[in-house]
Amino acid sequence: MNLLVTGAAGFIGSCYVRTLLAPGASDALRITVLDKLTYAGNLTNLDLDDPRLQFVQGDIRDADLVDKLMADADQVVHFAAESHVDRSIAGATDFVLTNVVGTQILLDAALRHRVGPFVHISTDEVYGSIASGSWPEEHPLAPNSPYSASKASSDLLALAYHRTHGLDVRVTRCSNNYGPHQYPEKVIPLFVTNLLDGKTVPLYGQGLNVRDWLHVEDHCHGIDLVRAKGRPGEVYNIGGGTELSNKELTGLLLQACGAGWDRVEYVADRKGHDLRYSVDWSKARDELGYCPRHDFTTGLAETVDWYRENRAWWQPLKERSA
Ligand SMILES: NC(=O)c1ccc[n+]([C@@H]2O[C@H](COP(=O)([O-])OP(=O)(O)OC[C@H]3O[C@@H](n4cnc5c(N)ncnc54)[C@H](O)[C@@H]3O)[C@@H](O)[C@H]2O)c1
Repeated sequence: MNLLVTGAAGFIGSCYVRTLLAPGASDALRITVLDKLTYAGNLTNLDLDDPRLQFVQGDIRDADLVDKLMADADQVVHFAAESHVDRSIAGATDFVLTNVVGTQILLDAALRHRVGPFVHISTDEVYGSIASGSWPEEHPLAPNSPYSASKASSDLLALAYHRTHGLDVRVTRCSNNYGPHQYPEKVIPLFVTNLLDGKTVPLYGQGLNVRDWLHVEDHCHGIDLVRAKGRPGEVYNIGGGTELSNKELTGLLLQACGAGWDRVEYVADRKGHDLRYSVDWSKARDELGYCPRHDFTTGLAETVDWYRENRAWWQPLKERSA
């Protein structure tokens, strides 16, 4: 089986590929990674010596390249995206081009070559913000940031290719991921690496925004259940089960890094900042047997240790972005 995985030089996609190629994997599995290597892509996240892995540097908007790769693919898992909300507020063009147009180019090629399942990785942010309770998959989408609007567009496009053309599309909507290899602009690696460097951390507003934290390996496990056992045309929420306000998360990170609240700098809130996200993932649990396996306290401690022990991975990224 030849699996085309887009965006797998990034945080979640690389974890997915590492998981699939871990000892015990089928010898028949071949993975082709298509990744543009934007600022967020990092080849050191992948084991390029593995003969089962082929890496192709390229843009998902390159229709000729995508057509060629799709002709050889049996299935697709599509991670490639511009993924940082703050960058989408500063400028939305790349978000529309990659997340919307790029997804449409992939879907068209998958349709031409009748490739499926095509698993589209979406996000809980497409639902908007919820004060209490949790969203089921049928909840109407109400995205608030240019990032989430571009993800909602691609999510709906993917579902439209199923309804219109019968393409075997499956969509996952997950909560906030954490774990090793996450680009140090997202809150956990940003805060940990700043604290390890003796710097302050910027906390938005009063730190009251609530997120549900999902270990990246649990997310990848959920994605693979959807690929292997999900139903065509269906959406599956994937949650982690640990809701924390940003202030609570900050407290845990300060503690893990041996720092005090004097290292926290309260900064103006993000524009249009969603207060709370919460997905109801009972459909993935009941249909696919999905259940997050990582305990948050342990998972967070291991994540902090990973950044502590892998300065060589993140320091050049921070120097480049500075
Ligand atoms: N990180 C999270 O907590 C989270 C939560 C919900 C959903 N998601 C979704 O999961 C997916 C992966 O997120 P991530 O955190 O790993 O992102 P990431 O930013 O770490 O990685 C994105 C990858 O996509 C590649 N890429 C970007 N534009 C491309 C293009 N035009 N052509 C080919 N490759 C391109 C980048 O080089 C990078 O390797 C995204 O679709 C994101 O929207 C992430």
